[in-house]
Amino acid sequence: MNDDALVPPKEKAAVFWHDIDMQWMEAGFWCLDLHAKSIDAFNSRFQPRTDDILLASIPKTGTTWLMALCHSILHRHVDEDDDALTRLNPHEVVPTLDAFFLADQIQEMLLLEPAAGPGRRTNRRLFHTHVPSSSLPEAVKDSGCKVVYVARNPKDTVVSMWHFYNVFFKSDAGGMFPLERVVESFCSGVMPYGPFYEHVVGYWEESRKRPEEVLFLRYEELCREPHEQVRKLASFLGEPFTPDGGDLGDAELDKVLWRSSIGRLRNLEVNKSGVWELPNMPKSALFRKGSVGDWKNYLTSEMAQRIDQLTRLKLEGTGLSL
Ligand code: A3P
Repeated sequence: MNDDALVPPKEKAAVFWHDIDMQWMEAGFWCLDLHAKSIDAFNSRFQPRTDDILLASIPKTGTTWLMALCHSILHRHVDEDDDALTRLNPHEVVPTLDAFFLADQIQEMLLLEPAAGPGRRTNRRLFHTHVPSSSLPEAVKDSGCKVVYVARNPKDTVVSMWHFYNVFFKSDAGGMFPLERVVESFCSGVMPYGPFYEHVVGYWEESRKRPEEVLFLRYEELCREPHEQVRKLASFLGEPFTPDGGDLGDAELDKVLWRSSIGRLRNLEVNKSGVWELPNMPKSALFRKGSVGDWKNYLTSEMAQRIDQLTRLKLEGTGLSL
């Protein structure tokens, strides 16, 4: 990758993000001020177990879907009525450690052996992080636990981010974010957990160095060939479906895909009416279109070209395409 990564000064973040306080972490990424302490605590205190599963993503690339998929794979033998996703949002089922590490609820989850509930056949822990691979606690590598990363086309990520921030920060920032500013910010690397390309390439390279421990998925491939991708994901996690697509394996796979689908999740009461613990954030904002290529409906050709050019530059020589 071209390594002239632009590291913008704090003032630059302020230009794009107005009242939203972000800081540049020593490990080389931006984060919201409100998450900095939690990130440090995650880094120094998280004690992974070998059979843990750590999901990773930069925001708006399919995090919620990956959470739902992995939870559904692990708990596919549970009856639908007992499925935690029917009463909790995927982000409550799979906590983001860097954002909420210090929360009491997460501290309890970290300390306790998860109880084996009715029909529950696994006590594996499932967590999520947005931090780049360069900032993962050393203990994660040492533990050999499984890491699953999801990446997404940058133009769809920008458009998804723009919609999300318009809901998330509406009252703070006062009205709609101009799309131009989000594109500018994205291209400058200024976004929570950004720069985007360094984030994606970091996990891509880790997945090539340690394929047994790091799986790299793409949102677009999950949409295009969900059966193949989720079969691969389940095998990687050591929770394979019946080999060769036997009837039982296919039925279970279909169940997992249905339970994790945007169509199901967005219609559950918890996601229709629930409000996230941070102010002004309806859980419904996590489930928008869930499609590939929606950028065509929003980005001008200049914006698209600018992002494409940057993508080519940043991914040159990596063997990765997005
Ligand atoms: P769009 O805004 O393009 O619709 P994240 O979970 O990382 O915040 O990513 C959000 C994107 O994933 C949004 O994309 C959202 O609609 C989509 N999404 C959420 N749940 C999904 C699911 N179960 N299946 C597919 N896409 C999903």
